[in-house]
Amino acid sequence: MSRPTTNVCLIGHKFMGRTHSNAYLKVNKFFPELGLVPRMHTIVGRNEAELKHFAEEWGWAKTSTDWRKAIGDPEVAVVDIGTPNNMHREMAIAALEAGKHVACEKPLAQNLAEAKQMLEAARKARGCKTFVWYNYRRVPAVALAHQLARAGKIGRVYHIRAYYLQDWAGPSVPLIWRFSKEVSGSGAHGDLGAHVIDMARFITGDEFVEVSGAISETFVKEREIPSQGSGGGIASGAASAKGTMGKVTVDDATLFLARMKSGAIASVESTRFATGYQNRNGLEIHGDKGAIRFDFEDMNRLHFYDATAERKVQGWTQIMVTHGGDHPYAANWWPDAHVLGYEHSFINQVADMMSVLSGQPPVVPLPDFEDAYKTQLVLEAATMSAEQRRPVPIAELE
Ligand SMILES: NC(=O)c1ccc[n+]([C@@H]2O[C@H](COP(=O)([O-])OP(=O)(O)OC[C@H]3O[C@@H](n4cnc5c(N)ncnc54)[C@H](O)[C@@H]3O)[C@@H](O)[C@H]2O)c1
Repeated sequence: MSRPTTNVCLIGHKFMGRTHSNAYLKVNKFFPELGLVPRMHTIVGRNEAELKHFAEEWGWAKTSTDWRKAIGDPEVAVVDIGTPNNMHREMAIAALEAGKHVACEKPLAQNLAEAKQMLEAARKARGCKTFVWYNYRRVPAVALAHQLARAGKIGRVYHIRAYYLQDWAGPSVPLIWRFSKEVSGSGAHGDLGAHVIDMARFITGDEFVEVSGAISETFVKEREIPSQGSGGGIASGAASAKGTMGKVTVDDATLFLARMKSGAIASVESTRFATGYQNRNGLEIHGDKGAIRFDFEDMNRLHFYDATAERKVQGWTQIMVTHGGDHPYAANWWPDAHVLGYEHSFINQVADMMSVLSGQPPVVPLPDFEDAYKTQLVLEAATMSAEQRRPVPIAELE
């Protein structure tokens, strides 16, 4: 039986372009229960030849090098923004004004002022849903951590220890857009820190109320300008380039401390210089009833400590989160321990977006612009704390 469809226009066809395209392609096959399925209507980019090739490989019906025209197409219902951060605001606001649902990559914006404008546009665009690609929420272990915390298994939270550690940005990596404040807004902070701030909020249901003790560092101050402009990124291998040097204008690493509304305290670390860790997106939460820890490099496991068990049997349990009957999203995939990967988080997110668009609840909450704005408040407070060397209450920014 054919199911109702919704036309998607995706802007950007590199790293996130591939993950999102893959998600639209697969979701129909693995989530047969969905009442609405995406149709890959238009793919947008800047290079005509690359676009045509991409559209053929991934199954997009149309291509466009004019994003305004593409999102104005009356056939398009959902605009998906997979471009660098400097384009999020303009594209999202234009799409909302055109009456489209918007799925925007993270961080929501380059800074809080831009995020606020996006939030206001979303509030005005009644009938339009917004989504932000904080896809790690839909890694089954992270979704399970959220469910356990909501079921009271961690109890009152004392500590949140969040870290997102990568090591790809050595001095031979050229000056790609991720090192330019003009294009990305910030470096490791907005790129990686945003994810773990979102995950901490998502799992605990708590909100940050004050940021203090932030420090940011740029270890490599200058990099070679790539011969073909600052395009590309970790997706394109960030190959070394010959040419003149340009200034790095973002942080390579940012660390900060925080207080939560509940009284819990948190530490957040994000860096592109953690030699030995390529994508260690991790979180540890300690409460009076239990604790959890997660590390994306071992993403099919959630570690859980039940402090309510008899003391003689207390210890860390490693939960393989692939049991269809018990674990979020697992029933749509493979038998137990036939493990999942990075791409599944995006497919799970598209499934939940389709559920919401067809009036059904998502498996776990999806971040919209309201929600992502709260993460942006924390990012901004940490930037201010680092620059001004002082604690910054979130209320000061609201
Ligand atoms: N959710 C995640 O896990 C995750 C991972 C990586 C990146 N991201 C986010 O995704 C976004 C894109 O990152 P990426 O790694 O895919 O970058 P990328 O450099 O690999 O791709 C960017 C794409 O945007 C296109 N583009 C740029 N400016 C454009 C314009 N004016 N008009 C049309 N197309 C334009 C480029 O042509 C390219 O196709 C960023 O916001 C980044 O923070 C999210």
